[in-house]
Amino acid sequence: MKNNNFLNALNKNNDALNVPVWLLRQAGRYLPEYREVRAKYPDFFEMIKSSSVCKELTLQPLRRFPLDAAITFTDILTIPEAMGVEIKFIKGQGPVFADSVINNPKLKLNYSNYLEKLDYVFEATELIKSEIEVPLIGFSGSPWTLFVYLFYGRSPRNYELINSYIKSEPENTHAILEVLSNAIKEYIGAQIKSGADCIQIFDSWGGILGDNFNEFSLKYINDISKSLDGDIPLILYAKGNKVSNFLTNTDINCFNLDCDEDIDAYIDMSLTIQGNFDPVDFHKDNSELIDIADLIFEKYHTKPNYIFNVGSGITPDINPDKVSLFLERLRIFNSK
Ligand code: CP3
Repeated sequence: MKNNNFLNALNKNNDALNVPVWLLRQAGRYLPEYREVRAKYPDFFEMIKSSSVCKELTLQPLRRFPLDAAITFTDILTIPEAMGVEIKFIKGQGPVFADSVINNPKLKLNYSNYLEKLDYVFEATELIKSEIEVPLIGFSGSPWTLFVYLFYGRSPRNYELINSYIKSEPENTHAILEVLSNAIKEYIGAQIKSGADCIQIFDSWGGILGDNFNEFSLKYINDISKSLDGDIPLILYAKGNKVSNFLTNTDINCFNLDCDEDIDAYIDMSLTIQGNFDPVDFHKDNSELIDIADLIFEKYHTKPNYIFNVGSGITPDINPDKVSLFLERLRIFNSK
């Protein structure tokens, strides 16, 4: 590997005077080259099940921008799909499951051979690894976040239903979380075996749990973290939850901060901090963007534990030329 800045920062020892960079959802619909590939496939899963397409989509942002990490092009919903739930991505609606706990309280997941059905992810991981000179990030949704999709069969619009379900059916909820948690351990274990250099866990819906976050989400994420070989860093993206609220309840020490968090509240602790740039800011004027890049570089290039990233995924409305301008500006300084 030629460029280890990102892994060094995860290990809190990036002593080169630079700012490692990658972006949540760095591949996707804001890139015309992604839309071109996507137009050939009526079905998102059909597209990602081709390892050569997956490799191509992973490499697209690396060709455009000076990035210090790649992330395998796949989705957090691969596990429920491999367990037999049909999932479609419908324009304007996001994911739509053919079955859900709401519609079918006896929803059964089919665990037999689920890991073999995910072979396409591991094959793509190997293929990507053979072609990149930066570290590769593997990922999974958290057990709770996958449960939220299985419960609603879509992205949730109100949070009361699931919060009353977990109160009335705690045993059933924990049983499903346990199964998902074990599957995720195997899934990320296989990604690591295929070459992933670190793992990011997306707890995109942990924020809706309020005081129940530790019991229904963090506990399982901690189990997953403990199952990892100590050499493989794990980054937690706890969207909608402040890291300071749960820091004492976890051994995890790499965090992707949400947009409303403050980097400076954590950067001098023994943690790796990634985030929290608001992707909406990519709409600012070029001169403002340059000033922000300069400010970020100035503040953080001496830190051994900082990674520039966004606090929520890049959205389709963002102009990739603005992203380019910003990242090139950070890079000019990086190579000084
Ligand atoms: O470069 C990358 O980061 C690409 C890999 C990636 C995708 N999804 C591809 C994708 C990653 C890391 C994800 C994570 C993901 N998927 C999350 C966690 C991040 C977060 O924002 O909280 C979540 C909640 C999902 C679930 C999901 N997948 C949704 C809600 C959608 C629909 C719309 C959207 O883009 O958000 C997807 C589909 C999906 N996954 C697309 C992409 C590029 C768009 C599909 C299309 O082209 O139609």
